[in-house]
Amino acid sequence: MECKIGLIHGDGIGPEIVREARKVLDAAASKYGHTFSYTELLLGGASIDVHGVPLTEETIEQARACDAVLMGSIGGDAKTSPWYQLEPSRRPEAGLLGIRKALNLFANLRPAYLYDELREACPLREDISRAGFDMVIVRELTGGLYFGERKTEEIDGVRTAVDTLSYNENEIRRIAKRAFDIAMKRRKKVCSVDKANVLDSSRLWRKVTEEVAKDYPEVELSHMYVDNCAMQLVMNPAQFDVILTENMFGDILSDEASMVTGSIGMLSSASLNDTRFGLYEPSHGSAPDIAGQDKANPIATILSAAMMLRYTFDLDREADAVEAAVRQVLKEGYRTGDIWSEGCTKVGTAAMGSLIAERI
Ligand code: IPM
Ligand code: MG
Repeated sequence: MECKIGLIHGDGIGPEIVREARKVLDAAASKYGHTFSYTELLLGGASIDVHGVPLTEETIEQARACDAVLMGSIGGDAKTSPWYQLEPSRRPEAGLLGIRKALNLFANLRPAYLYDELREACPLREDISRAGFDMVIVRELTGGLYFGERKTEEIDGVRTAVDTLSYNENEIRRIAKRAFDIAMKRRKKVCSVDKANVLDSSRLWRKVTEEVAKDYPEVELSHMYVDNCAMQLVMNPAQFDVILTENMFGDILSDEASMVTGSIGMLSSASLNDTRFGLYEPSHGSAPDIAGQDKANPIATILSAAMMLRYTFDLDREADAVEAAVRQVLKEGYRTGDIWSEGCTKVGTAAMGSLIAERI
């Protein structure tokens, strides 16, 4: 199969982790007889340095011309990086939000899975981690507070800022459907997370989700307030199969879910639209403090590449091979610093990528 893959190296640890994911993709291509060609796209700080803006029309067009895009991470240290002297709409994060919107990537899938091998790294009490967990957060990605109207103004001498949280029923319906479709291939449970005791947008979210549920009689739908969900994720994560939620709640809960797996360095994600196209990226950020030091964990990006093989290219066997190689390396005791525990072998970013690639 011929696959046109866009690569966004991005900022901070981005270039290092994308390089390792590419190693693994190339190993899969050569083992299974595929041709992967790569186009490098600029986004975030890397784009600001060249073009003065975090996202250009050119990048959007290049992305559209690819079958899928694999991204590292974008953004820098807000205290020290000159990117944060720019007005908010020209900072690195605005580029990421812009490309999500431009490509209509409304469905963000963030799986959180506790590897047996990483139980030691799980910060939860042993009786909780023993039960294990395997969930996927389905986060709405192109609406809500992230894209509502916002302004900062002075009213009667008082500085006032407004952000708007708005959802229409169509936006809710399409993401709910996506969550139910995913649940049908898993344990058939959707927990829709909202704040319907306070927010109108959440009350509509609940109604529309219940309407969608009628088309999926096999799937068990439950609702949970977001504050309770934050608590349940550390008390009893095993209860969750698919968590469906809006943009901002999903941003927060997915960081929490990833941390209970042991490290945010393990969590992959896929941002999808209505076609087969996807933008695949680790759930974590650009970790500027360890950039360029061969310390970053490339596994989240490698697992994101596996999601790309599965969702965009339908290459299940190849995706399985990548996931199995990750598991194998963990089983053999290799760890980057973030997931290291006593008795394991500490390796750097590049070595971790090579070890996984060699096991494809
Ligand atoms: C994420 C990130 C982004 C988000 C930032 C970098 C804008 O935290 O992908 O979770 O908030 O969506
Ligand atoms: Mg986030």
